[in-house]
Amino acid sequence: MHAINLEPLSRLEQFGQPPAIDSTYAEEAIAFILKQIDRNLEAFTHQFPAPASENLIYPAIDNVEWTSSFWTGMLWLAYEYTGDDKYRHVAESQLQGYKERVEKRIETNTHDIGFLYSLSCVAAYKLTGNEEAKQTALLAADLLMERYFDKAGIVQAWGELSDPEQQGRMIIDCNLNLPLLYWATEVSGEPKYAEAARSHVKQAAAFIVRDDASTYHTYYMDVETGLPRFGRTHQGYADDTCWSRGQAWGISGFPLSYLYTGDKELLELTKKLSNYFLNRLPDDLICYWDLIFLEGNEQERDSSAAAIAACGLLELSRHLPLLDPSKNVYENAALHILKSLHENYTAKNYPESSGVLIHAVYNKPRGMGIDECNIWGDYFYFEALIRIVKDWKPYW
Ligand code: GLY
Repeated sequence: MHAINLEPLSRLEQFGQPPAIDSTYAEEAIAFILKQIDRNLEAFTHQFPAPASENLIYPAIDNVEWTSSFWTGMLWLAYEYTGDDKYRHVAESQLQGYKERVEKRIETNTHDIGFLYSLSCVAAYKLTGNEEAKQTALLAADLLMERYFDKAGIVQAWGELSDPEQQGRMIIDCNLNLPLLYWATEVSGEPKYAEAARSHVKQAAAFIVRDDASTYHTYYMDVETGLPRFGRTHQGYADDTCWSRGQAWGISGFPLSYLYTGDKELLELTKKLSNYFLNRLPDDLICYWDLIFLEGNEQERDSSAAAIAACGLLELSRHLPLLDPSKNVYENAALHILKSLHENYTAKNYPESSGVLIHAVYNKPRGMGIDECNIWGDYFYFEALIRIVKDWKPYW
């Protein structure tokens, strides 16, 4: 790996202490999420929320987007937290649709198969031992493997494998798709899945992460020679800026590869990405949609990136040794972010809204889902809160 800078963390005084929140505070935050799930339960049993809300209300769509499983994952979290079978029943009723989607290859030309099947079928298997869900997730892992280029050692993000616009393009978001591959090796005993995931994460660390610990959103590899080509943004402000959610996918995803590989370098790398991210937050700790925008900007926030980063900081912190002085700092930073989300970024004052977190951005350059709710923001906010109220075993 090239030399990557660890910026000293600012706000050490603030992050040196946890915020004044207790379990009742977290339970109240979760109660609001459950209320929103309950109001959506009927509409989103056979259909799914669109990726982003429109006027803070999620349109209903079929299981065709990369985001369906964030809703199913919320149902599994709700089931785990409450023990109420109504959430389990709806989550289970959706598994057949995931099976059909992978068998018929419905909108599966994407690496997001990892997101889709970890939070639906792998979660079902881990929580309830559902064998059919396990087999479906293994089929999904096979499909994801089709996107792996041996020579370049990466999983292509989007589109046809032969499309010159997309060929050999890896993206930082893929970090969250790799757990499906590691898991597939664990349950099948076949090493090929984890080998591909290990190679991809190594290439992402080498080429997507820049020397200053910021990240490109996407990076092209030459699939014939295996050599690196160039970085490009897709959802960020510019090729050489750092898209906030991309950095958050890095912070949340590298520790998930650590979970399966035990490679401590991935934790050191996550510290570097985290410091870069935390050092560029405005005063209320909720990032603008690109980290080039600092306090006082007129640009929109991306609350979903804040929630994703909070999950990553909690995952990072739990693997650091007790004697690592940054262990508590990262945990405290996550708690401060969650407090800010709870106090100023939920839909609780918008009774018409079907979402949980407001002020998120899907894709600013393409004018999609700007200052709306998005379903992965809702999922990761819920996951982060679950992480702080119980000893949660990741679905990842
Ligand atoms: N993974 C796509 C996004 O974060 O918008």
